[in-house]
Amino acid sequence: MDHTKKTDNTVCSDTNEVKEYSTDGKVRHFSTEEDINQKLIKIIGKKFEEYRKTWDKANRFELVTDFPLFLHLDMNQECNYQCPHCIIGDIYETKKYYEGSYLSFEGFKKIVDEGAEYGCPSLSPQGNNEPFLIKDLHKYINYAHKKNFIDIMLNNNGSALTEKRAQQVLDSGLTRIRFSLDAFTAETYSKVRVGSIPLDKVKKNIETFLNLKEKGNYKLPVTGVSFCKVRQNEHEVEDFINYWQPKVDIISIQSFVPPTTNKEKYEKFYSTDQYEEVESKDFKCVQPFQRLVIRNQYIYPCCVSFNKDLRLGSIDNTSIHDAWHSPKMNEIRNLHKKGLYYKNKTCKDCVNLIYPTKEASLDRILQN
Ligand SMILES: C[S@@+](CC[C@H](N)C(=O)[O-])C[C@H]1O[C@@H](n2cnc3c(N)ncnc32)[C@H](O)[C@@H]1O
Ligand code: SF4
Ligand code: SF4
Repeated sequence: MDHTKKTDNTVCSDTNEVKEYSTDGKVRHFSTEEDINQKLIKIIGKKFEEYRKTWDKANRFELVTDFPLFLHLDMNQECNYQCPHCIIGDIYETKKYYEGSYLSFEGFKKIVDEGAEYGCPSLSPQGNNEPFLIKDLHKYINYAHKKNFIDIMLNNNGSALTEKRAQQVLDSGLTRIRFSLDAFTAETYSKVRVGSIPLDKVKKNIETFLNLKEKGNYKLPVTGVSFCKVRQNEHEVEDFINYWQPKVDIISIQSFVPPTTNKEKYEKFYSTDQYEEVESKDFKCVQPFQRLVIRNQYIYPCCVSFNKDLRLGSIDNTSIHDAWHSPKMNEIRNLHKKGLYYKNKTCKDCVNLIYPTKEASLDRILQN
């Protein structure tokens, strides 16, 4: 999830040649080389640089593009893991918030075709699911690549990436791939990634992928590992960074955000350093300026699970362009541009979840 309350906060600092930076103030990235976007500009060229400039402007609320810059396609909610901090780890929460029929390849193509018409630069074919459970995922990626999407990205849990599929991914046109691990030791891995295959096997899959990439001299996709920091794994962050830093292009340390407003279930996952001193007042959400999320067949301005009242329509009868310029979407953007997120109940709940304070914490949600 990426949200921001600081709007122009790309933070770079040199520490032992590892650069730490953030584009949203919540996910910390560590890269051995330059900012990963600088690396991608070198590989992909001018068009990538132009796209990132536009992206930064949108993130500073300086412009509303004619078409979303990013299409986030949550095609189904199927996973072979049940991570307890993720909505998919709980069948009750998943059923409560997710509805609609899964997006087919035909539906995917329809969205990508419209995006291509408007020169949309970026897309993710992964939502709250394990993307590699989709048998022909490389075909989806390759379809978008051939339609000139230049930044195609996904996260995965590393369990289903066999050698054959790794080769398919390398040849697909994928720009960025991240393996979510959330642990340094096998013991913690089995606790935070419930239902997983052993950590050693996942590490082997990642190694196979990296070896194939090196042997084939592939520059893309840039490869990363990620760690969603929760109370149960926070003691392993430093070992995780040290272990992976020489092996991958980027390491992402992600803040936990409760996936639903169920206080009892999710408060125990906040990391100990996550509480804010005071309630967040200056938050502005960048998502409605960057993207549309298509979850199954429905269109939303952002990725949170409890945003049904922000729904903009269905791809069956609404175009992406129309949804992007709809009065409802304009209203959400205007609220955030003016810093009035708390006037919308869903956004208020969401911000309280992202930036909890010790005193009020999630109680505020229940009172509203
Ligand atoms: C929902 S998963 C889907 C892709 C794939 N199954 C995986 O685990 O990478 C995408 C990313 O969201 C992260 N994630 C899951 N639940 C989260 C939460 N409550 N707060 C923050 N990140 C979360 C995961 O760790 C993963 O890096
Ligand atoms: S592997 Fe990914 S989608 Fe599946 S439960 Fe874990 S975080 Fe959620
Ligand atoms: S609910 Fe509001 S604040 Fe939260 S991600 Fe969506 S638009 Fe942003």
